[in-house]
Amino acid sequence: MTPIIVNQHGLINELAALATYSDAPSPAVTRIHFTPVELKARDYIRRLMREAGLDLREDAVGNIFGRWKGANPDLPAIATGSHIDAIPNSGRYDGTVGVLGGIEALRALKVSGFVSQRSLEVIMFTAEEPTRFGIGCLGSRALAGSLSPDRLRSLHDSEGCDFDTVRKAAGYTAPLHTVQLTKGFYHAFVELHIEQGAVLEREGRETGVVTAIAAPATLRLTLHGDGGHAGTVLMPQRRDAMAAAAEIILAVEQAARHSTSLDAVATVGLCQVYPGAVNSIPSRVLMEIDIRDIDLASRDMMVSYITMSIAHTCEARSLLYELLTLNADKPCYSGGAIVTGLVEIAQKRGYSYQTMVSRAYHDTLFMSEICPTSMIFVRSQNGYSHRPEEFTASEDIVRGVTVLAEILARLAS
Ligand code: GLV
Ligand code: MN
Ligand code: MN
Repeated sequence: MTPIIVNQHGLINELAALATYSDAPSPAVTRIHFTPVELKARDYIRRLMREAGLDLREDAVGNIFGRWKGANPDLPAIATGSHIDAIPNSGRYDGTVGVLGGIEALRALKVSGFVSQRSLEVIMFTAEEPTRFGIGCLGSRALAGSLSPDRLRSLHDSEGCDFDTVRKAAGYTAPLHTVQLTKGFYHAFVELHIEQGAVLEREGRETGVVTAIAAPATLRLTLHGDGGHAGTVLMPQRRDAMAAAAEIILAVEQAARHSTSLDAVATVGLCQVYPGAVNSIPSRVLMEIDIRDIDLASRDMMVSYITMSIAHTCEARSLLYELLTLNADKPCYSGGAIVTGLVEIAQKRGYSYQTMVSRAYHDTLFMSEICPTSMIFVRSQNGYSHRPEEFTASEDIVRGVTVLAEILARLAS
């Protein structure tokens, strides 16, 4: 086997090409699950996988798998991968570095003459972002058995389209129960991703080795008040859903600010006001609340505090409400042997590194339910992510892909 050499120029060009599949003008990227632009981006990924000599397979929710068959194809495979869907007005590196970097890692291993015992697979997970159907990691959740066919069928987007109809229109018609893979289907899974925070940059380290992923929860709240004319309905008669929402948003912020846990975060990132006119009292508000911590007890305490605050505000203001838990996931912990392997590789190659937790969630959170996992992080300039200014230097991406290729080779040998 000759040294692993990553084709920097080719990979950076592919990241640029993928970024052109977007519903937002450059440098912003908007690529929502199963929209026409995302379907075209899928064609691009399929083409790259085929050109890399990988065997393609797709499941009923749209996860795409590119497999390089090993000498011992009956052994559970080693997998890598990430996602290519992008939230509105985000950047070009989130998820894409792990998909295109995964394909490049396999190409580099092939060129090096590596003979793999186990099969190696790149997965492009469907809908890691919750934008369209309200639930993050849809593809990896379903694959790991954490999202049942019934729950999948119950999902609707903001236009009222249901998941089953949307996926069938996109060409995915196989029965939903075929998506779940058994524990042990994979021997290990390693995801390459941008850090999306500023820890590596601040500490002056090139590579992050992820030891755990924080536990995310998402709540969807609908507040039902009473609408009317903004000039004529006097204040004592009002049941303003937006004024209640404002109180609740502050309670969400307090839940995290008053927590003793450093990793506690809580956000209201989505708020829709009905009917949405300056001279009309809001009669209905829909909001989604994102709550996370590495420490599950602390995350659950925030959820309880927020739930109580909602009940209190709605009672005091005589509002009705519906509160839905979209997800309340556990944290995950990396496989010790994979972490040790990643640290050894970084040390051997002279890359500065550190072990760290991921405060963002990733498909790895669900892959860890069926096999040992870990992640490789590369630096995000200024810690920016989920915004058009997201940037990771080519040299950092190449280092990340090199570490990925080497850990895949070790795990597959
Ligand atoms: C993933 O995009 C996350 O929100 O952590
Ligand atoms: Mn993201
Ligand atoms: Mn991501």
